[in-house]
Amino acid sequence: MTLWHGRLESGMAPELAALSVSIHYDIALAADDIRGSHAHVDGLTAGGILTSQESASLHDALDVVAAEIADGTIEIFAEDEDIHTVVERRVTQIAGEAGAKLHTGRSRNDQVATALRLWTKRALVEIATDVLALQRVLLDRAISAEGLYLPGYTHLQRAQPVLLAHHLAAHAWALGRDVDRLLAARERMDVSPLGAGALAGSSLPLDPDGTAAALGFARRFENSLDAVSDRDFVAEALFDVALLGVHLSRMGEEMVLWTSEEFGFATLADTHATGSSMLPQKKNADIAELARGKSGRLIGNLTGLLATLKGLPLAYNRDLQEDKEPLFDSVSQIHLILRAMAGMYATAAWDQAAMMSAADSPGGAAIDLAEYLVVKGVPFRQAHAIVGGLVAESITSGRNLTELVNAHELLGAEPAALLAPGRPVTNRTTPGGAGPVVVAVQLEHLAELLEVEHAHLVKFM
Ligand code: ARG
Repeated sequence: MTLWHGRLESGMAPELAALSVSIHYDIALAADDIRGSHAHVDGLTAGGILTSQESASLHDALDVVAAEIADGTIEIFAEDEDIHTVVERRVTQIAGEAGAKLHTGRSRNDQVATALRLWTKRALVEIATDVLALQRVLLDRAISAEGLYLPGYTHLQRAQPVLLAHHLAAHAWALGRDVDRLLAARERMDVSPLGAGALAGSSLPLDPDGTAAALGFARRFENSLDAVSDRDFVAEALFDVALLGVHLSRMGEEMVLWTSEEFGFATLADTHATGSSMLPQKKNADIAELARGKSGRLIGNLTGLLATLKGLPLAYNRDLQEDKEPLFDSVSQIHLILRAMAGMYATAAWDQAAMMSAADSPGGAAIDLAEYLVVKGVPFRQAHAIVGGLVAESITSGRNLTELVNAHELLGAEPAALLAPGRPVTNRTTPGGAGPVVVAVQLEHLAELLEVEHAHLVKFM
């Protein structure tokens, strides 16, 4: 029997049922849907619509259904379109007459929006918790990297040496913005739609404020049309996950480069690498590549939903059912990526010699020579030209840059010493820069950020 058997004579054609059914994925909303129903029952009881006996038997029936879903014993029939249908049908079987009163003053439109908000609020906290775990790995590896340095790149050309700690921390700061965004989105979506009904509210004495509070929402909706048709919260969650995925993709791409023979900066643990079915010598960075690859899918989930939403008139339209699969997919995929990336970073070995020798090429200190001249009063543009000329001469003549610096009338032994291996990175002394003194300060700040994130997240657990 359909929920609308009074109005439409026949059941659904099989092809309609096949297109319409969502129970195979929206069963994930079961616990939140049932929570919403408990709150709704209390609201109806407070409003005098349900007697206390009816209320008790509905709460009991909802508990039974929750247990049946949790242990997988619930029976699902072909006519059970979605999770809301399953729960209501089963509650009615158990509670009889009282069960038939469960849907009073409520529509699946406000019901599904309520359950999905509850689900998403929790999902964002769980994602942020995994992000924090990855940030902790990066911070630990940064602290233990001590004085290790490598080339910093612009345009993928060696630019200036930077501490490895600085480089790893750069990713951790980007992830910190992800945590911030996830928690801000959670805060914005913390609005209960329950009580909006199909689209316009109700003539019955519902209590949307009371149900909002009972469900742990910060507030209730202000406008019933908006409440049932708003999927901004899904779009925002998908965006936040997509951008997080972009960050992880860039980290992945970097690890692919670092573990190549051409760079040779890092070696993955055997547990976090794969081999080749044909080529015996291969060791591949599949985690990094899947992080890069899956980010495309996360972006697709976001753009797909935005395309679904853009043409919809107020209020609920069935198109909105297409919000769940991309959301569930992005959430499950980002957990897989975050956990695998954390394991990969925790276990990778750095090749100190390869990193340092790549960073020690004299060009990496060219800016230090120019800045030496600046301190002596030479205008920067001129200093740049002098040092650029020496680098060019060293390349064309094959003479070593240190020798040329020693011999130059404005330079000499003191600036030549700036070219010594390991020296340039120590000269990066400005706040937020790449040298040891300021990186130590930065890592303290990063550790503080992670403490703040942790304190935020535990509040929601
Ligand atoms: N399964 C539906 C969804 O996810 C529930 C709402 C159905 N509402 C309706 N008016 N058909 O959106």
